[in-house]
Amino acid sequence: MTSGFLNAGPGLLLEAHRDTWYADPFSQINWWMPIFDYTTESGMAFYPHYFTKGIENDSQFYDLQEWRTNGMAQAAKRKERVPGDNSMARKKLESSSDLRIVMPPGAIMLFSAAHLHATTPNTSGRTRFSLDFRTVNMQDVLTGTSADNVDTAARGTTLGDFSRLSDGSKLHTEATED
Ligand SMILES: [Fe+2]
Repeated sequence: MTSGFLNAGPGLLLEAHRDTWYADPFSQINWWMPIFDYTTESGMAFYPHYFTKGIENDSQFYDLQEWRTNGMAQAAKRKERVPGDNSMARKKLESSSDLRIVMPPGAIMLFSAAHLHATTPNTSGRTRFSLDFRTVNMQDVLTGTSADNVDTAARGTTLGDFSRLSDGSKLHTEATED
């Protein structure tokens, strides 16, 4: 049986990154749920040591508006990734230093969008099925309560993509973080 991932385009396997490098808000919480059993070879890897420590990365090349206007469509056509396709750590991180959490189906893992994390190359021989979504607490946005920015230089914010749970209204994009 063979297995693999997209190596270019919007759906490629993501190496070590913070979601904030893609203009996600620093107050964002990511929710991740496995649908079936999985192993350390098919989940995610975290690098908690870097939560408060910066690492050299390509986020200065990421402009959300530019990505949505041109970048995403162009990246989808490519077979190989090019600089600017994605924001990644420039340093190769040792897998021995990562944290891989394995949970049963139905469990939920929450983590900050500012956590350095990666999709583990799936060598388990089985497809991983999972659900994930992102939330922000409006109070956190308004009060600037969030993870610190230790190395993100991306331009733009995805805050305007969020909808209020109670009535589905779009979040005002004027609400910005510090
Ligand atoms: Fe991510």
